Amino acid sequence: MTQEKKTEKKKDTNPDHEILADYNGYDYKKIFWEDGKRDYEDLADRIAIRRLLPESMDDFVDIAGGYGRLADEYLGRAKNATIFDYSKTELADAKKTYGDRIKTKQGDIYDLPFKNASFDGLMMIRATHHFKDMRKVIEELYRILKPGGVAVIEIANKKTLPKMFRYWFKKSDINPFEKSQSWLKDLSMYNYHPKYLEEMFKEQGFKTLKVLSVSNFRSGKLKKVFGTKVLGKMEKVAQPVLAPIRFAPSIYYKLEKPAENE
Ligand SMILES: C[S@@+](CC[C@H](N)C(=O)[O-])C[C@H]1O[C@@H](n2cnc3c(N)ncnc32)[C@H](O)[C@@H]1O
Repeated sequence: MTQEKKTEKKKDTNPDHEILADYNGYDYKKIFWEDGKRDYEDLADRIAIRRLLPESMDDFVDIAGGYGRLADEYLGRAKNATIFDYSKTELADAKKTYGDRIKTKQGDIYDLPFKNASFDGLMMIRATHHFKDMRKVIEELYRILKPGGVAVIEIANKKTLPKMFRYWFKKSDINPFEKSQSWLKDLSMYNYHPKYLEEMFKEQGFKTLKVLSVSNFRSGKLKKVFGTKVLGKMEKVAQPVLAPIRFAPSIYYKLEKPAENE
């Protein structure tokens, strides 16, 4: 057997690790953000990130960071910033915008191409809905963080008021109160019960430092009536106030990998 064969990496054949959303060749920025008129949602993400990310970090990675939509929120806080993503299209766009200010790394979430304890900060925004095996994802995120490091993770919440009404009025058979993940067939994505993932964070060893309820006014009608500026002001107030009831479709967590002496 040659040396090359001996060190060859085993292919991940776990069916739960299938790529559910391949963004290669997809213009995510234009189609989803610009044409989709999601200024309010973008602002809501930024308000949360500003509140949760540490002010200064040495090594930071934006996991499933796409084309770097949120890079300007962390470039000023991190000495070295990397965007990790599966899509070469997204990473090429990020390079085009940020050049040498940012490193990019391609790969799969279930097998992150980073050594243990590589980063003192990371974030993963608007990505959980593409992942079925969240236990493995959380394990990987924990592994690449240094002790004392911070992870800001957004989850797609299945227990929202509109989803409750859909269930009560028999428009959907997904029970938002069931503590599990739900598969949204039409959208090919998962939603998560906050408690389900909070237990996983804890079991992995993460300590929860802060929780925010984000994108509380995500509704076409509200966006039309109030506009981004007013909704942004309301959002600022609502994020911490509505966090205890995990109200919004996006729930943000600031988690810490405890330092070795803790
Ligand atoms: C909805 S986008 C979010 C991008 C960015 N975080 C943001 O908020 O703008 C989801 C991203 O997850 C990436 N992705 C999907 N499956 C992945 C996987 N298995 N491993 C790594 N990245 C993945 C996609 O390529 C895409 O860029």
